[in-house]
Order: sequence, then C-alpha cells, then structure tokens
Amino acid sequence: MKLSDFIDIHTHILPGLDDGPKELSESIVLARLYTDVGIKMVFATPHFLPGTAWSASPEKILAATQMLQDSLHHSGSKLILIPGMEIAIQKNMGMNLDRGRYLPLGNSSAYLLEPPFDSPSFNPLEPLNEFLERQQQVILAHPERSEYFQLYPQTLQKVHSQGVAIQVNIGSLLGWFGQQSQELAKQLLVWDIIDYLASDAHSSEHRRPPNLQEWQTLQEIINPATLRKLAYTNPKKLL
Ligand SMILES: [Fe+2]
Repeated sequence: MKLSDFIDIHTHILPGLDDGPKELSESIVLARLYTDVGIKMVFATPHFLPGTAWSASPEKILAATQMLQDSLHHSGSKLILIPGMEIAIQKNMGMNLDRGRYLPLGNSSAYLLEPPFDSPSFNPLEPLNEFLERQQQVILAHPERSEYFQLYPQTLQKVHSQGVAIQVNIGSLLGWFGQQSQELAKQLLVWDIIDYLASDAHSSEHRRPPNLQEWQTLQEIINPATLRKLAYTNPKKLL
C-alpha cells in the first residue's frame, strides 16, 4: 500500500486547542507534511480532558476544523479534514456521553478514547462499558503506550473480542515511544487485534506523520493486506 492512500484517524492538527500546533501557521506546515507525500485526508482529534485547558466542546472543534479547512483551501492545500476528538478515559463517562459532550469520528458513531499513560491501578476498561451499553463504537487510542495495558496485555484480547477496536501508533511500531510500547504493538500485530494505524501527529517536528522512508520500514513489519486494512480500508469506513 502506498503512503499516499493512508487516512490518518488520529492527529492533533488544529491550532490552539491542546498540545498540538499553537498557531495556525504551524498547522499549515503540519498539513504540508501530509500533502507532500500525497495523503488526502486526516481526522482532527484534539484532546478532550474536562477540567483542563484541553476541553474544547464539539461545537468549538467543528468550528476550528472548518476554520483550518478554509485556511488550507486558501493556501492552496487540498488536504481534507474530518472532525473528531480524543477523549481521555475517566470515570462516569456515560453522563457526558448522554449530554452530547463528546464528538465521534466523522459521521461514524465511533469514539476515540485515550487510556491514561501511567495509572496502572486505574482499570480503563470499566468506563468503556458505558459506551458499549449505549451501542456506541469505541476505538482505544494507542493502548500500547499505556502502563496498564503493558502490565495486562491480555485484557486487550478480551475487550477486542467484545467489540472494542484498537488503534496503534505508527511511531510505536517504529520504536519512537520506547521498547515496551514497541513490543506490545508488535504483540498486538501478532494477535491480529489491531484495527487502525494512525500517526497521533502533534507537530511537523516531534510526533509527526510518517515519511516515505518510515513507511517503507512499516511495510517490512506488516504484510500488505493487513497494512491496507489498518491504514486505509478501516479508516475509510469512519468517514
Ligand atoms: Fe493523541
């Protein structure tokens, strides 16, 4: 599969909403990294962590996505942005869900949920049930980077069999987030329970989208049919 077919479902490309680009100009530079390699479409998924500065409402994210889309258009970029949100997993998420405080990915009913990185005593799986009980699709964002799942990797097999989708960061497979994340990412690949590969790009310099050389490395790790499913076919279904 060519890198240009990649649809990135997890990016922090909107300016000023989280730890992604601070300024519009930085968002435009990040967008150029995508279009330079022929990528046509990415989801904009800012962090959502109520009670912090990272708590833009769905309305605000939709407006920010449109604003950046217009700016890209005016700058000659053809990159298409799809709105979304990366929702930090907390307790009692059902109430926020019922109140419409979460934005799903695109026109799907799939919510991108981020487990805590370093709270091994907090079981991030319990809040997921509040989504599943309401027949809402859940995608776990980079569980390979979470200490809980590094300690209890088999729990991912269990929740995947219950319908929870799994998104792994491309950078994890490439070793950008350390050995433990890389090993778990590769284990998930062996277990065949990864549904999406995404960049989780935050800037044009650090945690950026894959370039052609890194895509080549990825092709040596993942067979062509699987790579196409995780980076194109499954993401396309969320549009
Ligand atoms: Fe993210």
